[in-house]
Amino acid sequence: MKEQLSIIPKPAAIKYGEGFFKSGGIPSVIKKECDPKQIALDKDGEISLKSHEGYRLIIEKDRITAEAASKTGMHNVMETFRQLTLSEFKDGVLTLPCAEITDYPRFSWRGLMLDCSRYFYSVPFIKNLLDVLSLHHINRFHWHLTDDQGWRFKVNEYPLLTEIGSLRKNYRIPDLPPSGGFYSDDEIREVIDYAALRHIEVIPEVDLPGHASAILASYPELGCTGGPYEVEERFGIFEDVLCAGNGKIFDLLEKVLNTVTRLFPSKWVHIGGDEVLYNRWEACPKCQSRLKELGLKKSSELQSWITFKLANMLAERGKIAIGWDEILEDTERFKLPKETVVMSWRGDEGGIKASRLGHYVIMSPCTCGCYLDYRQFDNREEPGALYAKAATVCDSYSMDPVSASMNKEDAKFVIGGQGNLWSEWIYAGKIAQYMIFPRLCAIAESVWSAKEIKDFNDFEKRLTVHRQRLDNLGINQYRGPLR
Ligand code: ACM
Ligand code: ZN
Repeated sequence: MKEQLSIIPKPAAIKYGEGFFKSGGIPSVIKKECDPKQIALDKDGEISLKSHEGYRLIIEKDRITAEAASKTGMHNVMETFRQLTLSEFKDGVLTLPCAEITDYPRFSWRGLMLDCSRYFYSVPFIKNLLDVLSLHHINRFHWHLTDDQGWRFKVNEYPLLTEIGSLRKNYRIPDLPPSGGFYSDDEIREVIDYAALRHIEVIPEVDLPGHASAILASYPELGCTGGPYEVEERFGIFEDVLCAGNGKIFDLLEKVLNTVTRLFPSKWVHIGGDEVLYNRWEACPKCQSRLKELGLKKSSELQSWITFKLANMLAERGKIAIGWDEILEDTERFKLPKETVVMSWRGDEGGIKASRLGHYVIMSPCTCGCYLDYRQFDNREEPGALYAKAATVCDSYSMDPVSASMNKEDAKFVIGGQGNLWSEWIYAGKIAQYMIFPRLCAIAESVWSAKEIKDFNDFEKRLTVHRQRLDNLGINQYRGPLR
């Protein structure tokens, strides 16, 4: 008898009963509100904070009942039910073993980042992706909207950001017209609304003060040398960044943050902060006099000053800053506001350090299967970054947001984890899907399911069924070796 319901991420508990539910067509599910206490108790007998997202799905011979204490819980149970209909509805009949599923997440932040600067993904592509994220109980869409290779939303007071900064030349095939684009305010709202209906929060990222070529190409006076600059087509880390000695950068940043906070209801705004090179600041008289004026010793402290200002500008707007783990460096003088969230990407060290300083942490280490632009196994024919070791599905599965070197206190600051798809190498939606799936299925389990119930062999079995669901949704997926 086939009892395995093959749900991904793996539910907290499944109790199988006798017999089967069978119906012609997809049945309607009886929805019931329930007491959160029924869903989840944590080890101390307190009502789990996570249980508001939890649910119970009861499959009996003659009916299916969904119970949840909140709308989000109800959404989650219906997504689990959608998984079942996508794989178990055959020849017009839905057949399910009788079972009682009780489920709730381990972490509240379960995310995917999509880089829409290096490649400009369309709104229909993003909406389709959101739909599949929701199927896996992924509830955060981190939208990387600016980088060296393109600026992707309109700032009314700085029109050149999109007129110039959203387009890049193609140096390899110079006959091609400049490519890129930007999302209109209506399109951004469309994505946010579409995500909200799926209980996904959209977190915008504006990457500052590095990865700024698109800004500098638009407003060259904001760089240390004055340019000229170009929207980058090359890959890499570029030395031209916003000039820390030029007060005008804050005029632009004010307007950028005003725009972002007007458009995005999320309480978080990601301000980037990764991979900032300091050689321009070191050679720039304006940056050096800023350094002196602030009484700083190293150029790197100028970055913490900018981060400090950005985090406070966001706080004034009622928002919380998130930054890549570099924002923790050289912060003795300009301390990060306590509420600032750190996204640990270079490994788990940033996350550990942040938690010990009392910051909430999101784990997405490139060393543990969270970088979905890395190839899925070591073969030059595979799409993805050639400079990095492969990140296998098993690596993504093995990712534990609470790293082995964290103690119990540190672990309290970990709010979850996510996969990141950088798109230097991923120049089509279908390739993006191939890179994301099934690794994101594995990450979903790493951030949703309790560590004690995870088992890669069992995941592999469930994945064979789950792949049919992705096929039924028209998702392109990688099918090579998993480890
Ligand atoms: C990053 O991968 N540069 C955050
Ligand atoms: Zn400068």
